[in-house]
Amino acid sequence: MSQLLEDRKYAPVGIFDSGVGGLTVAREIMRQLPKERIVYFGDTARVPYGSKSRETITRYSRQIIHFLQSKEVKAIVVACNTASAFALEQLRPELSVPIIGVVKPGAKVAAETTRNGRIGVIGTEGTIGSQIYTTMIHQHNPKAVVIGKPCPLFVPLVEEGWLKDPITVEVAQRYLASFRESEIDTLIMGCTHYPLLRSTLRGILGEQVNLVNPAYETAQGLKALLMQHRLLDDGNGGSEAPRYQFYVSDAAEKFKHFANSILPCEIEEAQLIHIEE
Ligand code: DGL
Repeated sequence: MSQLLEDRKYAPVGIFDSGVGGLTVAREIMRQLPKERIVYFGDTARVPYGSKSRETITRYSRQIIHFLQSKEVKAIVVACNTASAFALEQLRPELSVPIIGVVKPGAKVAAETTRNGRIGVIGTEGTIGSQIYTTMIHQHNPKAVVIGKPCPLFVPLVEEGWLKDPITVEVAQRYLASFRESEIDTLIMGCTHYPLLRSTLRGILGEQVNLVNPAYETAQGLKALLMQHRLLDDGNGGSEAPRYQFYVSDAAEKFKHFANSILPCEIEEAQLIHIEE
């Protein structure tokens, strides 16, 4: 391997999301790939993405990818389901580094593990409206029946920290009611925030429904992608730079507080940048 390629593997992985939700994906990458360096960008000034148009999300994602490339990342993880649904395939040809989203890995595992072929998907209005999970599931399991349900109230409830609050349970019961009759055996938590509601969802759906967390599968997919491109960090790079760097477009303190409540490490700083410039 040339020295240049050898050095590339010590570059960070770029991860982005509309805000704090993608930290559930970063967390999984930290757990599964502890030697990887990370540059995370949360678009806290323009969240939510889930109710915005394909064009807007593609424009935002392009700006963020330019920013991450300026940090010389070796690969990019689109940690947002809505951005994965709307922008990923359009932006892939514009990039010189490998890129992975959260939809495909989650769809694949659901398609392969369902026993009765009936899969539920919950996500933002954008993700569910795009039908991306249905398309991706059918690539692996053409006969699967996929039932989507947008759950827009979950995002603010999670950001409020009301993970097990009676109001959240009530809202979840309303959203999930339609799945009772559809006899799903698998539910994809197709939005970055939803894995934080796992025990609430489990309490309503019971043990018989398998909850798929695309963050977990994405970390595995990233490992495979880095190995394929010979970019997996072996931890021998010896860089002085902080292992994890966080950037946001607004409300850096609030972001830091949320990050410290869910990440396995303490973050000292989230730097504010003007992403539109
Ligand atoms: N990160 C978004 C997603 O996974 C949820 C929050 C938002 O709407 O921006 O789709």
